[in-house]
Amino acid sequence: MTTYPIPEPYCWDESFAVFYEQLDEEHKGLFKGIFEVAKDPKSATAVGDLKKKVKDHFAYEEGKMANLDAAYLTDHKKKHSDFVSKLEALSPPVDGKNIDFAKDWLVQHIKNTDFQYKGKL
Ligand code: FEO
Repeated sequence: MTTYPIPEPYCWDESFAVFYEQLDEEHKGLFKGIFEVAKDPKSATAVGDLKKKVKDHFAYEEGKMANLDAAYLTDHKKKHSDFVSKLEALSPPVDGKNIDFAKDWLVQHIKNTDFQYKGKL
């Protein structure tokens, strides 16, 4: 698996495009959500918004992927649920280690895992 660089400032760019409009919009929102937590780790609103955006995105994406290869879908869903478990355990103030983890996770997940559905949904 390739390790991709983390954008700084932390925001979506064209290199993350999956070319499905809603999914790209949601991915932009996830970058923004993590950016907002990084900006103000004490904000319960930012943390709550991020958790909601992540869960909403995973639910939508999993629905779109329902017809893909079962092994890929199972593995992809597990990656989602593992990340949700970690995210749900966080409460403000979120420490830098967890913010860096979330930043890295999203970058690697989109490019290594989400990208596998490009052109197939
Ligand atoms: Fe776009 Fe699998 O998260």
